Amino acid sequence: MTDRKKVILPTLFKKVSDGQPITWLTCYDYPTAYLQEQAGIDMILVGDSLGMTMLGYDSTLPVTMEDMIRHTQAVRRGAPTAFLVGDMPYMSYQASVESAIRNAGRFMAEAGCDAIKLEGGVAMADRIKGIVDAGIPAIGHLGLTPQSVSALGGFRVQGKSAAMAKKILDDAKALENAGAFAILLELVPDRLCKLITERAENCIIMSLGSGRDAHGQLLIYHDMFGLYPKFTPKMAKVFGNAGEVILNGLKQYASEVTTKTFPQPENFFGMKDEEYDELLKLI
Ligand code: KIV
Repeated sequence: MTDRKKVILPTLFKKVSDGQPITWLTCYDYPTAYLQEQAGIDMILVGDSLGMTMLGYDSTLPVTMEDMIRHTQAVRRGAPTAFLVGDMPYMSYQASVESAIRNAGRFMAEAGCDAIKLEGGVAMADRIKGIVDAGIPAIGHLGLTPQSVSALGGFRVQGKSAAMAKKILDDAKALENAGAFAILLELVPDRLCKLITERAENCIIMSLGSGRDAHGQLLIYHDMFGLYPKFTPKMAKVFGNAGEVILNGLKQYASEVTTKTFPQPENFFGMKDEEYDELLKLI
């Protein structure tokens, strides 16, 4: 493990006031969390994108609180000092303020989260307020919000027109006023992201595919390393093709087993001659 001190809210706000961008990645499992911790990533999001990246669904909608809690617990074990954010899955908060508070509380009590994230603007501001009033740090998520992908007409940039951009600006202010300590802007034009960041008074603005002018960046881990087979979005940069490395390793394994070149003596264990002879007498 690293000797890094636990990343807490003041750590994040200090980075903002020092003008140091915050690093944030998605993560869904223990070994990846361990690596992200070693790399000193500030924040980790256990996103409901795990429905697509880990469970193979076509959308995030089938993901349950139980799925989220199980994966978040594993991530916490691998990354004890990162600022851990649990993503509220579909219908864990939309129905009522009470359901939002209860499910946010589960992330904190059962999975050791530092904060939760939920999607939506003005219409979800009362959920954010309820959660924050219950003592739980909350992050809003605006722009492309995958749980509403059907209503948004697909995975596309949001806020390109002046009217839609104004709505996102108003949503951001409503979330900030409701007590969100941070807002994620996913796939909005960079100039809109810059405006929202400049206008934020006590709120950290994070960008996912929304340009450089936010207080920090988020990427989906699977997109960064070629681990999602269906597509790689334009906003993602591939930092290494782990998918290709793993595929080559798998092919080599299959070939070595088939040709009996694996395993070799260093991969298994022997037995002393006298024990083996004794065994033969016993059977
Ligand atoms: O679930 C997730 O990973 C997310 C990102 C798309 C921001 O919410």
